[in-house]
Amino acid sequence: MYTTLQPAHSIFAYIVLTVLFLASLNAIMGIVSKKRFTDKDLRISLFAMILAHMQLLIGFILYFISPLGSSSLGQMKDSALRLTSLEHPLINIIGLVLITIGWSKHKKEESDNGKFKKIAVFYTLGFLLILSRIPWTNWFN
Ligand code: HEM
Repeated sequence: MYTTLQPAHSIFAYIVLTVLFLASLNAIMGIVSKKRFTDKDLRISLFAMILAHMQLLIGFILYFISPLGSSSLGQMKDSALRLTSLEHPLINIIGLVLITIGWSKHKKEESDNGKFKKIAVFYTLGFLLILSRIPWTNWFN
């Protein structure tokens, strides 16, 4: 299972990060150009959230079967292992929580601008948090 999920998590990361970036950018553009919040905007925001949750699910399983996951929690002096076993999962979960909050808060907004603002703030913050704790060195090797 590890040999399937590890590359899946790695490849899926490109898609998730791209779509999250596009959803955040789309919301910022919506505020700047004072656009109407249409079905297209709803779909890209929802799509980004669903993809990010799928990555979270793969990450959760990987965490318990990877030698770089929970089994490395006792080796906090090693910065690479601290990243994959603690910082990456924890910060990414917080990022996902922010994205989910943004999604649910946008639904309560009446105005188009208000909807874009909630998505823009929460998705961008979530995206930046996730980006800040990607194990880049593992990814490119
Ligand atoms: C949107 C959220 C996430 C993104 C974009 C992401 C992305 C990545 C990337 C690019 C890697 C390096 C892949 C490689 O070594 O080739 C990685 C590794 C890893 N991720 Fe995530 N991840 C996310 C969420 C999570 C979560 C929530 C967990 C755990 C609860 C997790 C657990 C892990 C583990 C254990 C590794 C090391 C796997 C290994 O190489 O054995 N990830 N992640």
